[in-house]
Amino acid sequence: MTEVSVNASKKYIVTIGSGVLHRVGETIRALTNAKKVCIISDSHVFPLYGGIVSESLHGAGLDSCSFLFPAGENSKNAQTYLELLNFLAQIGLTRSDCIVALGGGVVGDLAGFAAATYLRGIPYIQVPTTLLAMVDSSVGGKTGIDLPSGKNLAGVFYQPDAVICDMDTLDTLPAESFQDGCSEVIKYGMLYDPTLFSHLEKAGLSFDRESVIARCVALKSQVVTQDELDTDRRQLLNLGHTIGHAIEACSHFAVSHGRAVSIGMAMVARAAKCNDTDRLLSLLQKFGLPIRTDLSPDALLEVMLADKKRRGDTLNLILPKAIGNCAIVPTPTVNLKTFIEEGI
Ligand code: NAD
Ligand code: GLY
Repeated sequence: MTEVSVNASKKYIVTIGSGVLHRVGETIRALTNAKKVCIISDSHVFPLYGGIVSESLHGAGLDSCSFLFPAGENSKNAQTYLELLNFLAQIGLTRSDCIVALGGGVVGDLAGFAAATYLRGIPYIQVPTTLLAMVDSSVGGKTGIDLPSGKNLAGVFYQPDAVICDMDTLDTLPAESFQDGCSEVIKYGMLYDPTLFSHLEKAGLSFDRESVIARCVALKSQVVTQDELDTDRRQLLNLGHTIGHAIEACSHFAVSHGRAVSIGMAMVARAAKCNDTDRLLSLLQKFGLPIRTDLSPDALLEVMLADKKRRGDTLNLILPKAIGNCAIVPTPTVNLKTFIEEGI
């Protein structure tokens, strides 16, 4: 088992290991004064792991209930969010009670946003069950929902009280979802860590899960500690994401987040003439991830112009120069179409 601490406005521990799902109850007991806990999960994950988490809560003397929604990005919207808030009010969850986000990034973002806004904020624990959620979305406190105009357009920063990553949950994850998470793992190697990048090149999909997840979480922890509110270096974590979000939205979420980020990283590497473009493209393909899209530059541009990171006529793009060397480059929106065309 590995523990990584995050020292943001709230300090918390990320626990990574096998069988740690059983610790959810005792963790909540130790960190909060909760009497009642609401497990928020989706239609795929709760039948698999809801029982273990409920048992753990009861074992710790906590009352529990659950709110479930249909799995998938299409649920990460205002309607599910409002239904969830109403549910929390109906069951009488109080400010000292607690929410458990049990699932992938969709559950984590939605449950985190509800925890941040219900009664102006109640404690919550992230229990990520996808690789993507373990290495990225469960850590750092970005919560939110999608709007019809774009991804993650409503949200707040709200740190969890703990993150519990049970590696065993990855055993039931469909191969495609595991590959999606690998896209974010490759992103960390590309941004910060040539040794991690080389390990992935050698090991492929059989990389050592616990040490790689712990390394990614440690890298994210450093970034979040330095720039919790995403005004500076945290923006680097958006490598491949600006184009990726546009691909997700234009495909009506038929292209998953991880795959869209993979295409986005490949496109920015080509457009920025990154020295290690060939190695990046080979690694993405080794993990079964796509590196091209059939979507038109005009369609992508339209969505990118609505990106939440846009400031007036400028959008900060994250451009890779080489493995372990990426930069935040303010880019005038008038140059974006040419940039997309060079990357596509
Ligand atoms: P997801 O939550 O939709 O999960 C993918 C699929 O796997 C779903 O069908 C889910 O039900 C299923 N699943 C989850 N765990 C499982 C398990 N252990 N066994 C079997 N099935 C399982 O998708 P995701 O890739 O985890 O997350 C993507 C979301 O995360 C996007 O909405 C993205 O915007 C968000 N995100 C947020 C941040 C952040 O910092 N907050 C960072 C990156 C991504
Ligand atoms: N996933 C990007 C971030 O947390 O900043």
